[in-house]
Amino acid sequence: MTNFSIKTETIAIRPFKDQKPGTSGLRKTVKHFQSPHYLETFIQSIFNSLPTLKGSTLVLGGDGRYFNREAIQIILGMATANQVGKIILGQSGILSTPAASQLITDYNALGGIILSASHNAGGKAGDFGVKFDTANGGPAPEKLTNSIYQIASHLTSYKIAHLAHVSLDQLGHYQYGDMSVEIIDSVKNYSTLMGSIFNFGRIATLLTSDDFSMCFDAMNAVTGPYAISILEDQLGAPKGTVIRGRPLPDFGGKHPDPNLAHAKQLVATMYQTENTPHFGAASDGDGDRNMIMGDHFFVTPSDSLAILAANAHLIPAYSKGIKGVARSMPTSAAVDKVAKKMGINCFETPTGWKFFSNLLDADQITLCGEESFGTGSNHVNEKDGLWAVLFWLNILAERKISVKNIVLQHWQEYGRNYYTRHDYENIPVDAANTLFNHLYQHLETLPKQQFGDYTISDADDFRYEDPIDQSISEKQGIRILFDNDARIIFRLSGTGTEGATLRVYIEKYVTNNNQFEIETQTALAPLIKIATHIADIKQQINRDEPTVIT
Ligand code: G1P
Ligand code: ZN
Repeated sequence: MTNFSIKTETIAIRPFKDQKPGTSGLRKTVKHFQSPHYLETFIQSIFNSLPTLKGSTLVLGGDGRYFNREAIQIILGMATANQVGKIILGQSGILSTPAASQLITDYNALGGIILSASHNAGGKAGDFGVKFDTANGGPAPEKLTNSIYQIASHLTSYKIAHLAHVSLDQLGHYQYGDMSVEIIDSVKNYSTLMGSIFNFGRIATLLTSDDFSMCFDAMNAVTGPYAISILEDQLGAPKGTVIRGRPLPDFGGKHPDPNLAHAKQLVATMYQTENTPHFGAASDGDGDRNMIMGDHFFVTPSDSLAILAANAHLIPAYSKGIKGVARSMPTSAAVDKVAKKMGINCFETPTGWKFFSNLLDADQITLCGEESFGTGSNHVNEKDGLWAVLFWLNILAERKISVKNIVLQHWQEYGRNYYTRHDYENIPVDAANTLFNHLYQHLETLPKQQFGDYTISDADDFRYEDPIDQSISEKQGIRILFDNDARIIFRLSGTGTEGATLRVYIEKYVTNNNQFEIETQTALAPLIKIATHIADIKQQINRDEPTVIT
């Protein structure tokens, strides 16, 4: 092993005041991140927030988007200069978010730096992001992200070593001064973990059977290598089952966001008239989201979470029962119904995975998820796209009925939560603030107001007290609750990089069998109208239609 000599420098800078992490790490345009000292400031601020950094192990990798490799070179130089002991680096700089999370705990690391802007567009004109996960493999809690932000706002210098360009592609051990770098296979640990959770034998039988076919859209993002290795190489699905499997720095110019709006190729395949696959799935930029489809059928993420919970007994790792479940506040209450029947707790948390971490660590929950195409379990402290796909495959292998029938039977047993999310993207920040101020002012006047069949029972601004550490998170979205279990939620996105994005979440609950197969937007039309009216959307932001409907 060569020991490369190093020369460390301290660079004086002016602090950056805009490094406040959002729902999931710091996200800015690539251009913003490339401006002098910007990335370095955020990394140094992470390092300064970790009292036990010296001599520690950190995991490093990203979703392969534009600037991933350059950022890794910079971070390696800064880690050496800041006396990090060891870096576990995904080969070619590639690690999916769930795989990185697992490696943090596998290697007893102090944490991990994940380079990703998730489902945001990539490429030179796209977005970049940096997330920090702590020793439990979970996203940094608010206390830590606030401290990183404070440090960045006052930082006047950072330390960097000029390493000879590190080759990221060759597996092996490298030594830079006192710091070692281990370049590891990005997929191996993860696929072993999946094999320990699911019944790979049963799934392999399904995937190799003549009566079954699936299409997995990796969206030219990080899940490609994981999905090819597990689904095709290990479980025997025919070559070509994984489409768009090669991670590209610009994701092929498309949004790597697995939903009906952005996974167009998969949707077209699942709605084609001939040779329609029985099962369709997609994952996002960094591999933590998933979309599930059947032949001419779309499963909403909220329903998917409920169905996973209701069928968990079929999966080896969860066959002894699940402890509890959690969903983010805007996620539909479908999983609540399952939890109630099973007699387990169901927690309602603010949006963002970090709020699940404490519950997972305290063994209060086994499964959790969000309406934004994210589901996960206690196997890692992040949401996990491919895990959800394997979960569905395992259910299909056991139950031997179609995706659609699984969902229909679920609704028959628990009722159906019709659900949609309307996004108004890139609206002026001022207009968004005015809309919310207007809503806050009217909040108290809403209860008891009646709109057609719907009467408002309660309206509040969601506030969460963490049941484990009692930390408080305020202003997590406006909730309007109706008598008949219907809900409308308004919140602003915390992951965008331009302007503001208004998210409107609309839900209604039905138990009548003959009301189960209405088109979602039609079923929710009256509530959509009420939402538009209450927030005065057209007037406030001057938009007639949402930009994305999921
Ligand atoms: C969005 C989703 C949220 C998810 C986050 C990161 O955040 O709504 O559920 O945890 O991306 O994937 P938002 O932009 O709404 O703040
Ligand atoms: Zn993601």
